[in-house]
Amino acid sequence: MSEPKHHHAPVAKPVLLEAREVTVRFGGLVAVDAVSAAFRAGELVGIIGPNGAGKTTFFNAISGVTEPTHGRLMAAGRDLTGAKPHRLAARGLARTFQTPRVFSDMSVLANIEFGLKFAGRRRRKWIFWGDEVGVPWALRDAAGILKLVGLDAHAGLRAGDITPSQQRLLEIGMALSTRPKVLLLDEVAAGLTEAEVVEMARLIRRLRDELDLTVVWIEHAVKILVRHVERVIVLHQGRKIADGPPQVVIRDPEVIEAYLGDEMSEEARP
Ligand SMILES: Nc1ncnc2c1ncn2[C@@H]1O[C@H](COP(=O)(O)OP(=O)(O)O)[C@@H](O)[C@H]1O
Ligand SMILES: [Mg+2]
Repeated sequence: MSEPKHHHAPVAKPVLLEAREVTVRFGGLVAVDAVSAAFRAGELVGIIGPNGAGKTTFFNAISGVTEPTHGRLMAAGRDLTGAKPHRLAARGLARTFQTPRVFSDMSVLANIEFGLKFAGRRRRKWIFWGDEVGVPWALRDAAGILKLVGLDAHAGLRAGDITPSQQRLLEIGMALSTRPKVLLLDEVAAGLTEAEVVEMARLIRRLRDELDLTVVWIEHAVKILVRHVERVIVLHQGRKIADGPPQVVIRDPEVIEAYLGDEMSEEARP
């Protein structure tokens, strides 16, 4: 008890991805309104917000799918504003889409192999995040990736014939096949049963831990996400209204207010 304690100042992990005052306009509509957010190595961050809050548009803006109207996107300190998705992928960024984009007519295995081929075509070296030598063992081949996401028993099935929740796992597998350092997940738990959500959360945490990933996970329903992430960002009408530990954020009056009247609020969820 009386042993002297060593007080180490916590060392902040490097910021891998940073949005600086990112705005996306669609005509007169400001879908994302000057949102700033930084994601550090190894973080598991959730983004929540009512329908139409701008979550997907924010993801699109930070993954090169949509060019921001204003603001900057920094990746490991480098300005990559306006870079196309393949350039950001080459810098270690991968994402899933709210509606899974798998090749239905190809087998589950072939979908992953396609992803690996795409990864192979990019430059061999990670300019900012180190060498390809550092690729985790589980991500070296398609079989390893399928095992990781729990689809190894379905490798030979047509991707169009597996269940929607399995298609989400496949999409995560495809994203992993590009050997990312930062993984962006858009509503991968939507429509899943309670038990499937718990499984999904467990998988995401395991990916973060075993692959040393930074994970940013969007979910519409508050309840699902807050239990499983370490930090929550709340978007409402395009603006960031909160950013902090889940237990603090869910008690924030502005956050509660934002969710009032949202049909999928915590209470209304099945
Ligand atoms: N391509 C687009 N063109 C015009 N408006 C869009 C487009 N994409 C999204 N929006 C609008 O931007 C707002 C934010 O949408 P979105 O980012 O999809 O929200 P969320 O993912 O939080 O539900 C909504 O009002 C939506 O209708
Ligand atoms: Mg969305």
